[in-house]
Amino acid sequence: MTRGRFITFEGIEGAGKSTVAAVLRERLEQRGVAVCLTREPGGTPLAERIRALVLQHGDEPLSPEAETLLMFAARRIHVDNLIRPALARGEWVLCDRYTDATRAYQGGGRGVSAALIEALANAVHADVQPDLTLLLDLPVPVGMARAAARRGVKDRFESESIGFFERVRARYLELANAERRIVLVDASQPLAAVVAASVAAVEALTRP
Ligand SMILES: Nc1ncnc2c1ncn2[C@@H]1O[C@H](COP(=O)(O)OP(=O)(O)OP(=O)(O)O)[C@@H](O)[C@H]1O
Ligand SMILES: [Mg+2]
Repeated sequence: MTRGRFITFEGIEGAGKSTVAAVLRERLEQRGVAVCLTREPGGTPLAERIRALVLQHGDEPLSPEAETLLMFAARRIHVDNLIRPALARGEWVLCDRYTDATRAYQGGGRGVSAALIEALANAVHADVQPDLTLLLDLPVPVGMARAAARRGVKDRFESESIGFFERVRARYLELANAERRIVLVDASQPLAAVVAASVAAVEALTRP
């Protein structure tokens, strides 16, 4: 059995990550590929409990570093209990956010040092790196308008300022420039065009 592929979806709120991941799952399944669609933070019952801790507004301060550690604690549980076993079974794992989100949100958005984030990434999942990352990029106000049309109460991240999301977006774009693994998709296009660009990037993975 060949190892599956690991594809991650990144971008700010409202970029279309969950929508595009769901469409790609269908397309791959139609081709007979076994797919595991999951998300971060969370993805397993225990990691989802950490997600709730990180996203809810609490009475007590949560420092950017503590937030980062919780993200990596959840990630390690997710990798150990879901992602690595699925890849070993030959499934393709589609993950809605992964470590690039920590680089962009905790690093770019909140100013956590890249040295800390890379040390944790290396310690937590050196053996589980995405084969492909689709960065769905769009202007912050467009993403915020899409997210606002959809949601109920804002979580800790959704309550952040435009400036925060501009820093997150800028860090995502820097990462895309630096890493061949990351394919930049213009997510301000109509959904059909975003899906077509995403499918093309995934097709490239299946070629020898
Ligand atoms: N290309 C597109 N054009 C117009 N609307 C879109 C497009 N892609 C997604 N949407 C819509 O925008 C909203 C946000 O999309 P989605 O939930 O997939 O974003 P997301 O990146 O998963 O956001 P979040 O990070 O908040 O989970 C949804 O209502 C979705 O239907
Ligand atoms: Mg989503």
